[in-house]
Amino acid sequence: MTDRANDGAAGGMDWTKRGPFEFTAPLEGATYGAAVRLAGGGGARALVEAAEQDPEALPGILYDHSGFLFLPGLDEISDEPQLMVRLSRIFGPEVEDNLKTFTAENKTLFNIHDDVPEIILVTNLPPINSQPMALPDPPYTPDGKFPMRFPHRRGWHTDQSFRRPPPDFSLFYAEKPTTPGQGQTLFCNGALAYETLPDDLKRRIEGLEAVHALPGVGRSEQAVRAGETPKPLLPHQMPQRQPIVRIHPVTGRPALYICEAGQLDWVDGPIHDMEPGLDGDGAKLVYEIMTHMTQDRYTYRHEWAKGDFVIWDNRNMLHAPTWYDAENYIRIMWRTTVMGNPGDEYVGEKRSWVL
Ligand SMILES: [Fe+2]
Repeated sequence: MTDRANDGAAGGMDWTKRGPFEFTAPLEGATYGAAVRLAGGGGARALVEAAEQDPEALPGILYDHSGFLFLPGLDEISDEPQLMVRLSRIFGPEVEDNLKTFTAENKTLFNIHDDVPEIILVTNLPPINSQPMALPDPPYTPDGKFPMRFPHRRGWHTDQSFRRPPPDFSLFYAEKPTTPGQGQTLFCNGALAYETLPDDLKRRIEGLEAVHALPGVGRSEQAVRAGETPKPLLPHQMPQRQPIVRIHPVTGRPALYICEAGQLDWVDGPIHDMEPGLDGDGAKLVYEIMTHMTQDRYTYRHEWAKGDFVIWDNRNMLHAPTWYDAENYIRIMWRTTVMGNPGDEYVGEKRSWVL
């Protein structure tokens, strides 16, 4: 195990024992989340075996800390990627097998792991050559800080919100992170942000749905602004409506559930039954919600080290990638997706993304 696993993640904080695990919470630099390790030490293999023997422990810690876990030092996953799938299964009934559910949307976005089809590679390596987000403009806030807040910071989304039902969890592993200070992942907690939403705004969004769209089909804010013609879509690629306030099926807590520029439909949306388009009332509402959600007290910046593993609940968390120097660094992150418990809103629904 790395030094970071032993002491770096906790920042010298106390560890609390739960089942076979120890955790420290909240995460350093955040108001939520927990860093978790196996009590008594051990790498990924030992940790996964312990999680399988006490399958309530890790999800319990996650739900108690508002949907976010950080597990440092799981480097053994690089040599035994199946461990990542086993860890994913702890969090829900179905780990997406990308060979079975892959559709046109994924094929243009991600590589599939050669041996383990549940793992997708988020990387600038060929054949997909996924490119990083642009730097914010300007790169820093007026007081010289790393920008987190929308609309200065862009790219906030919840994974695969263009599907109904949307997925429950994403699990992300740093196989080859970039050099420090770039290629971070930013997080934002929609459950905590909902609690402090002004009453007036709570009333205005009650019962509303946002219209979520596939990236790259000419419906993003940038594409519409550039005058692109939206691409024709097949039935399984159509934009999907999702409630702006989701009730979490396990915790019962309401959470803001929305995206912004790249994963909403800025042609017919972004809000169903509101004035559409870039300058409509729907757009103004998205900006208002996103600006509230991405305040410092709800956000967290993860600086990746090799072997870091994070788990987030897509039902109440947004995240955003950041720029990295893709000309000079190769970045390889592994992701799995867990689904199967989206909540009452979706019960019995046929999957929108499967033909
Ligand atoms: Fe994502």
